Amino acid sequence: MSPQDKDGNDTTIHLGCGVFGSCQKKYYKGIPVAVKVFKDLSSSQDVKHESAIMARCVHPSIPHIFGLNVTQKPYFLVSYFYGIRSSSCTLYRALYSKSLSLTAHSFGKIMLNLCQALHYLHSKQLLHRDIKSDNILLTDFNSEYHPMLIDFGKSIQISEAPSKRKSLTLLEQDEYRKKHKHIAPEVVLGHPPSFLSDIFSFGVVMSDVSNRVKTESCFLDAQKKCLEKDPKLRCPMSYLLSQLQINVAFYQK
Ligand SMILES: Nc1ncnc2c1ncn2[C@@H]1O[C@H](COP(=O)(O)OP(=O)(O)O)[C@@H](O)[C@H]1O
Ligand SMILES: [Mg+2]
Repeated sequence: MSPQDKDGNDTTIHLGCGVFGSCQKKYYKGIPVAVKVFKDLSSSQDVKHESAIMARCVHPSIPHIFGLNVTQKPYFLVSYFYGIRSSSCTLYRALYSKSLSLTAHSFGKIMLNLCQALHYLHSKQLLHRDIKSDNILLTDFNSEYHPMLIDFGKSIQISEAPSKRKSLTLLEQDEYRKKHKHIAPEVVLGHPPSFLSDIFSFGVVMSDVSNRVKTESCFLDAQKKCLEKDPKLRCPMSYLLSQLQINVAFYQK
């Protein structure tokens, strides 16, 4: 892997860092790639798990993975680099960016494409478990904006969902809720994650969008149903998809 583009310019760009380690933009055979470098404490199992989930998914809104290194530390994972005008841009940033100024129609399409990606993931019996505006990247393709769902570090096969978790004290629950607003209330209480807990997180992304951009009542109705406290009252994927389709069609009139 090289820190240089095809013209030989030095272009290592730091993309972000989190609990796991850091992410950098590099080049592999001239192709821009994102290299997620894991901290020393990460196990090779974690890195293999994240890459195996990504490798199982072939979808236009799920990153293409090139490979991983778990032979020696630091372990890393290499995927295609997605960005706007060669910079990484999360949905969160796009919502607050003055220079991008995406239209309500663009955001509507982004949310529909994203929902289709989640539908695909669920059809493979996979849970994402960390859907939030920071884990969604935008890329420009054929002069349209397109979302990429990233960060499969917490993803699991639904059958692997832990049945019970160590319960948190009331104070710990409060702190957790404040820090992780996108996590479904039943999960904070220690219940297993489910397709419906991913739907809740998707609803939080919808509210990030509707707080900044004008959306139609079909969008807001679906958002409300995603955010129901009781998972049994949340809407199914089919309803969510059809509401988002109606929302996009509205702007095409
Ligand atoms: N494929 C990618 N293309 C471009 N940028 C990426 C890519 N993957 C990750 N990034 C950047 O790196 C940041 C951290 O990556 P992420 O997988 O979300 O790690 P973390 O587990 O720390 O949240 C992202 O917010 C994004 O800005
Ligand atoms: Mg992340």
